[in-house]
Amino acid sequence: MRVAVFSTKPYDRDFFDRANAAHGHRLDYHEAHLSAATTALIDGAEAVCPFVNDRIDADVLRAMADAGCRLVALRSAGFNNVDLAAAAALGIAVARVPAYSPNAVAEHTLALILTLNRKIHRAYARVREGNFALDGLLGFDLAGKTAGIVGTGKIGLIAARILAGFGCRLVGYDPFPSAEGRALGIEYTTFAELLPQADIVTFHCPLTPETRHLLDAAAVKRLKPGAMIVNTSRGAIIDTRAAIAGLKSGQIGSLGLDVYEEEADLFFEDLSGQVIHDDVFARLLTFPNVVITGHQGFFTQEALTAIAETTLANLTAFERDGTPLHPVTVEKIA
Ligand code: NAI
Repeated sequence: MRVAVFSTKPYDRDFFDRANAAHGHRLDYHEAHLSAATTALIDGAEAVCPFVNDRIDADVLRAMADAGCRLVALRSAGFNNVDLAAAAALGIAVARVPAYSPNAVAEHTLALILTLNRKIHRAYARVREGNFALDGLLGFDLAGKTAGIVGTGKIGLIAARILAGFGCRLVGYDPFPSAEGRALGIEYTTFAELLPQADIVTFHCPLTPETRHLLDAAAVKRLKPGAMIVNTSRGAIIDTRAAIAGLKSGQIGSLGLDVYEEEADLFFEDLSGQVIHDDVFARLLTFPNVVITGHQGFFTQEALTAIAETTLANLTAFERDGTPLHPVTVEKIA
């Protein structure tokens, strides 16, 4: 079938072209985000394939319906950017890639933890300048420290397993505690009780109305003073202004982010020649104890291969049966 693929980069095209050899769909690649302003690019396609920062709102869905386009095939696990109720009302199916490589994101979480703890970002810059002084690079042993895992699903459990391998004690918060988590040694508790115990708090829960600004000013106050915070989940789980206040007071000892609540205007683009207009983000960049990556947790060969294969399998199943392999339904958000 004909598919309009939005927000594409050269690496997306490489992985999709390779996987499409087994499917034979016609893929029209567009660099533009999918939004109400770009629906003209659908241009006869029967499905759209958007990415995490495309907004598939009621206007976009109405334009799709008018153009006879019947499927939103997300190439992501998260679906917080689709108006599912509007899609259902218009008879547009929504599909996603429920799991591609939880290892990729869990391992990136550890990359942030180790970088922040042993100050690799600063050491790298110093050594290149011929500065071999160690002042300011002091870290701590992970062995024996307490790691708090918020959300113990696929990614959280792998992060927990790796942290257990470092000799960390594990505490966890999840409305649905997992037996596998308990077997790994996770001691489940409430979010409020997790905060004062953890030397490291890492977020692996989805963005929902309940988790929006889960780490707010009140939660920052409850942290163990000097705690490390890591978020590879979705940006809006952390109230960035509260985190900045926590960094300034020392209540937050270090902060590692792969996601940011206003990332849609920044991430995935080369803005190195431009002025950044987001003053909150610009303030974050000034801290020596903050490391930010631009939503690259998923960015491994294994994950990109799995994303392309599952997305194309969704399209093929929809073309054959009228239902994608991994549908997202309104009940999923209830
Ligand atoms: P998952 O669905 O396997 O696990 C999510 C867990 O969070 C579940 O156990 C669920 O019960 C729990 N949860 C739900 N509400 C919660 C709450 N209020 N408080 C605490 N926990 C709660 O999802 P998976 O695959 O582990 O992914 C986790 C998140 O990672 C995704 O929602 C997505 O936002 C993010 N992600 C980030 C990527 C990146 O590149 N940085 C790539 C892929 C996913």
